[in-house]
Amino acid sequence: MGERGRMGPIMVLEAWDESYSVGNALLDSDHRILFSLIHQLHDAMETGQSRTVVGSIIGVLVEYAEHHFHREEAMFGATAYPDAERHTAEHRALEAKVAAIRDRWIAGEREALCEDVLGLLKKWLTDHIMVVDKSYGPWLAGADGASARRT
Ligand SMILES: [Fe+2]
Repeated sequence: MGERGRMGPIMVLEAWDESYSVGNALLDSDHRILFSLIHQLHDAMETGQSRTVVGSIIGVLVEYAEHHFHREEAMFGATAYPDAERHTAEHRALEAKVAAIRDRWIAGEREALCEDVLGLLKKWLTDHIMVVDKSYGPWLAGADGASARRT
């Protein structure tokens, strides 16, 4: 690290692993992709990629997060998940935060993607998956089991 010691905290962005699993292959795959996009964003910043390249990665991150959140919400609807309202509200808040970062970046604000912000992005994502998403795992698995038994 040496001279680049200030990059320390961000360098430990870990990859998705089984400990993040919510017990649903499709949603796990979405979460992997979101982790990978945050990694790509970090790498692009660290290697000094152009504003356009970095902007397109954060643009994809915003779009994929929205796509994934709606996929989760459709599953909540299909299984009558009792905590859907609170969880959905958290998705809207996360979307707003990430879209605001993207907009600041596009507007030319370099600090919009400083290390602290990248660290926060990673923390929001991992906290959401580890706590909020993990809590629907048993419910969705139970709903799957119930429909499997009916057929
Ligand atoms: Fe979620």
